[in-house]
Amino acid sequence: MNAATPGADGFHPATPFGSSDFDSRQFRTAMGQFCTGVTVITTLDADGRPAGFACQSFAALSLDPPLVLFCPQKTSRTWAVIEQRGAFCVNVLAHRQQDVSASFGAPREDKFAGVAWDPSPSGLPVIRHSLTWVDCTIENVTDGGDHHIVIGRAQTLGDVLQDKPLLFYRGGYLSTEHPRVTPAQAELENFLTWTGGDTWL
Ligand SMILES: Cc1cc2nc3c(=O)[nH]c(=O)nc-3n(C[C@H](O)[C@H](O)[C@H](O)COP(=O)(O)O)c2cc1C
Repeated sequence: MNAATPGADGFHPATPFGSSDFDSRQFRTAMGQFCTGVTVITTLDADGRPAGFACQSFAALSLDPPLVLFCPQKTSRTWAVIEQRGAFCVNVLAHRQQDVSASFGAPREDKFAGVAWDPSPSGLPVIRHSLTWVDCTIENVTDGGDHHIVIGRAQTLGDVLQDKPLLFYRGGYLSTEHPRVTPAQAELENFLTWTGGDTWL
């Protein structure tokens, strides 16, 4: 990618241009401009030991049926355990849980050391102080290059904690005061994650 010449407003390029000759670092930088939340996706192995990994590639996919998706690297050790179990729990992290994200985002043996969790109704690890959680069963897995695209069916929803989310942006963490901005009314019902006007959202 080239440095663009600023246009009249001194900020946006005079002409939008880019490059099809990019390497993986440049691709990563471009994708890092997209701000996401952070989840830890957990499961249990056949011996009942907890497993999990930090995951930003999580999204709500469908309302009816209630589906979510996430994309684990094909080399993820947690994915191998989730695949075997056929089920996973998505923990949506709060801004105070940077250390949890860091622990679960590294290939450590003892990711759950010092992490308080309780079993969901299906027994999967629910990490304490997460904003919410959703227990899922695997519905479908498709190829996504060096990742899998895993579609899960929501089985149980956790309570919602009144706290701020942990955000991931440009390779770092940030948080935000929750802005009370309402999107245009006509579009609200098309938002999968809109919960209605009388909630804290
Ligand atoms: C904030 C954050 C987001 C991440 N998102 C993903 C993701 O979406 N998919 C993925 O495969 N790895 C993601 N990772 C990297 C994994 O968490 C990391 O590779 C981890 O060591 C995998 O552990 P495992 O091999 O035990 O499953 C993310 C890491 C961090 C810190």
